Amino acid sequence: MKVVIGADHGGFELKEFIKTIIPAMGYEVTDAGNHVYDAKDDYPDFAIAAAKTVAEGKAERGIIICGSGVGASIAANKIKGVRAGLCHDTYSARQGVEHDNMNVLCLGARVVGIEVAAELVKSFLNAKFTGEERHTRRLNKVLALEK
Ligand code: RB5
Repeated sequence: MKVVIGADHGGFELKEFIKTIIPAMGYEVTDAGNHVYDAKDDYPDFAIAAAKTVAEGKAERGIIICGSGVGASIAANKIKGVRAGLCHDTYSARQGVEHDNMNVLCLGARVVGIEVAAELVKSFLNAKFTGEERHTRRLNKVLALEK
């Protein structure tokens, strides 16, 4: 599975760490930027780039990081086809995929440390949408908003 990752200055350091652990989980990772630390960069630039990569089918999952994860989730959810969730507990990171078909995980690097972030990423990437009728029915009501 291909995974795209993106972060502004608030999430840059955590992004660099997460990039190193994803291959060991058995997934391929590409970096949508920022590629250098820039204290003046803007989270929408990288959240949108990563979200579009998922929406265009170039990656199946995305991970977007900013300081709180809030700005990243707001921006990513503007992109059609993206279902981004800000999750700082492993239950939500897993269940968001299983029930809601979440395809982008947003993280706040100023909220969680690297070990918790690693657990969140693992829970998110290893989870699969169940496809159960009740979840599909609910998801279709959300998808109808994009038409
Ligand atoms: C950047 O300082 C910070 O505002 C940004 O990373 C993010 O937390 C926005 O939601």
